[in-house]
Amino acid sequence: MQDTIKNIKTLEELQALYTATFGKNGTMTARLKEMKNLDNDARAALNLENTTLRELFKTRQAEIENAVMMSELAGQKLDVSLNPAPENRGTLHPLTQSLREIAQILESYGYQMRTGPEIEDDWHNFTALNTPAHHPARDMQDTFFLPNGNILRTQTSAIQIRAMESDGVPIKMFGIGATYRKEMDATHSPMFHQIEGLYIDRDITMSDLIGDVRAFLSRFFEIEDVELRIRPSYFPFTDPSIEIDMKWRGDRWLEIMGAGMVHPNVLRNAGIDPDRYQGFAFGFGWDRLAMLKYNLDDIREFYNGDVRWLKNSGF
Ligand code: DAH
Repeated sequence: MQDTIKNIKTLEELQALYTATFGKNGTMTARLKEMKNLDNDARAALNLENTTLRELFKTRQAEIENAVMMSELAGQKLDVSLNPAPENRGTLHPLTQSLREIAQILESYGYQMRTGPEIEDDWHNFTALNTPAHHPARDMQDTFFLPNGNILRTQTSAIQIRAMESDGVPIKMFGIGATYRKEMDATHSPMFHQIEGLYIDRDITMSDLIGDVRAFLSRFFEIEDVELRIRPSYFPFTDPSIEIDMKWRGDRWLEIMGAGMVHPNVLRNAGIDPDRYQGFAFGFGWDRLAMLKYNLDDIREFYNGDVRWLKNSGF
C-alpha cells in the first residue's frame, strides 16, 4: 500500500485510492470500525498504520501538486533577454517649449510673467489703451464680440493695463496669452498667441527698449548679435511708435514686433502720473516667433493636435 501511494502520478488516481481507503466504504474505515474487537497491541498497530497512511497521502499530494506547478512554469518560461517594445515618449508642444525659452530670457532681465482674462472688457482691450469708441485703429483688429458687450481679447496689451492698475509703478512685466481675431489662412489663425513687454520707471527711454529687444532676440534665435531695423509706425497706445524688423539668415528683413514709448494717456488711464513716469511697451506674435525658430510655415499646424506632426517636426 505504501509503495503504491508513492508511485501514484496524478491527483485523480491519488484521490481515488484515498476514497477507497478512507471513504465511507473505504478499507481503513471498515477496519477502524472493527477496532473495538482488537487487543491493545493490534489497536496501537492499526492507529499507527492509519496516521502513517494519511501522512503519506498528504505528502504525495504535495509532491504531485509541486510537480504539476514546476512543469507549468517550465512551459511558460519568460525570455528576459528580449528587447522591450519602444515606449511612446511624449514631447513638449513647440509653443510650450518656446514659451519656456522666452520666459527664461525675459525673467533673466527682470520682467515678471503675467496673464489676464481672454474674455476682456472694452476698457482693458481698447479704451484704456487710448483707443476709444469709433477710433479708426479698432478697424485694424477684427474683433469677436460677445452678446453682453465683452469681447475676446484681440491683443495682450490688455494685460499691461491690468498689471499697472493692480501693481502701480515702477513695473517691469511681460504678459502672455491667447488672442483672437476674425482671420484665417496659413499665417493667421482666429486664435493665436501674443507676448507683451512693459517697463515703466522714472527714466526709461527708447534705447532701453531697443537694447532689451536686441538682447532678447539674439538669445532666443541664438544669433551672435542680431541686426535690427527700426521703422516709424503707429499704435494708439504708444508715442512714438515703432516697428522692429530683424535681419533673417543674412538676406531678408522680417517684421518682428510693434513697440514704442507708452502714451501718456495710457499711463493716465491706469492711474499713473505721466509727468513722473515713463517707459516702453512691445508686443509680438508668440506663434510667429516659434514658427521662425522651428522653421514652420503653417500656423494652423500648432492647433491640429496631430501627434505625427509633433513627432516629426524635430523640436
Ligand atoms: N498690440 C499690438 C498688436 O496686436 C502689438 C503692440 C504694438 C504691442 C506696440 C505693444 C506696442 O505693446 O507697444 O498689433
